[in-house]
Amino acid sequence: MSSRDAVSGSARPLVDYNPFDPAVIVDPVDYNALLRAEAPVHRDPHTGIFQIASYETVVEAVKQPEIFSNRFAVALGGGTGAVDPEVAAIAKQGWPAVDTMLTADPPEQKRFRSLVNKAFTPRRVNDLTPKMETLCDELIDAFAVDGAVELRSQFAVPLPLTVIAEQLGVPREDLPRFKAWSDGFVAQLGQMADHEGRIAAAKLILEFQEYFAEILEQRRKAPQDDIISDVVNADVEGERRLDTAECLSILQQLLVAGNETTASAITEGMRLLATHPEERVRVEADPELIPNLVEEVLRLATPTSTMWRVVTSDTKLGGVEIPGGSIAMLRFASANRDESVFAEPERFDVGRANAGDHVSFGLGIHFCLGAQLARKEMQTAFRKLLERLPNARLSEAHGEPIVAPNILLRGLTELHLEFDVD
Ligand code: HEM
Repeated sequence: MSSRDAVSGSARPLVDYNPFDPAVIVDPVDYNALLRAEAPVHRDPHTGIFQIASYETVVEAVKQPEIFSNRFAVALGGGTGAVDPEVAAIAKQGWPAVDTMLTADPPEQKRFRSLVNKAFTPRRVNDLTPKMETLCDELIDAFAVDGAVELRSQFAVPLPLTVIAEQLGVPREDLPRFKAWSDGFVAQLGQMADHEGRIAAAKLILEFQEYFAEILEQRRKAPQDDIISDVVNADVEGERRLDTAECLSILQQLLVAGNETTASAITEGMRLLATHPEERVRVEADPELIPNLVEEVLRLATPTSTMWRVVTSDTKLGGVEIPGGSIAMLRFASANRDESVFAEPERFDVGRANAGDHVSFGLGIHFCLGAQLARKEMQTAFRKLLERLPNARLSEAHGEPIVAPNILLRGLTELHLEFDVD
């Protein structure tokens, strides 16, 4: 029996769910609904991790960074898989993991963030729009005559990857390596890989570090007009330059945060449009709806479906006592489907008046640094895809799209579409 029934009365109890069960990770809708209905702040009995599931409690938690700390990398094994000796041995050959933006608290978080902030202002992002449009057209040109596409690999991944690679000053011919490194970080973050998978990820991360350490060295000596030069030559409070490990941590966050999430949002958006032709027709008739479409897609896709926090001292959230030292999971995807904020939350409605109230980019001091960039990429992508892939629909030759099992980042592995060709 589905727990969608359980929410409305009869039964599968909360204790039957384990948030780390791959089936729950891939389809958390029932579990999230049950949490919101019965225990919006819930100590999961299998793992001891506090699940924070309602809109109100997620917002309350992110607004208290001194209690709900982002220094979770240490608590989760340094983020290097250090608990696995073979993985630790590979990691040791590289630079140590350093907490910078996402994995730091103020004042360090603010200091690191201010160094890269200027690269992501609305003006800098707007300046990139013509480049994004050209890139979208080039990517679509490559498959337009086929009448079919695997959208994730042929469009949704290369778009943000190319944009951020250019911002970082990485040449285009290195893009495939760039993508492999991003996958290595995502595998590490997802914590679902087996021993072999963790070793492969650690090797990729080492390769990433060696590649960028060399570029950092070059930019130290001869700065160019790119983010790497800004980061490596920035004065930290007039005292010193960032060291290589700190720079690598910042670049790593830009690489992972900028690629996987935006690619997932674009892919899921096209799946939603392909399976809701009536909504697609609304947007086609009124392209002014595209910014709102983007917000609604972000709400339903929630590519960063959960995020860690470490609780620094005894506290109370949603009436529940949480002891200091606990680990908590902010369930952004659940907050985005909270029926007390979003009417008929499961419905895809491109005209939803409060779609932009989603928490897909987080809130407060860690609010996504790349939100403007991601929004602009998505707007440009949907505008071009709607224009150039008429009547896009799921390909009948392929099965249902599959979600990658990853604890934090949620997205389809592939999306096969067919469309009309003149
Ligand atoms: C649809 C795309 C994206 C989604 C859904 C997303 C989601 C998020 C979320 C939820 C957070 C907050 C995490 C927390 O509260 O702990 C965050 C932070 C961050 N994002 Fe994004 N992001 C996206 C795109 C990007 C892009 C394009 C970049 C940069 C190129 C980026 C860079 C960052 C960074 C550096 C942080 C950490 C900021 C800090 O801690 O101060 N993100 N993102």
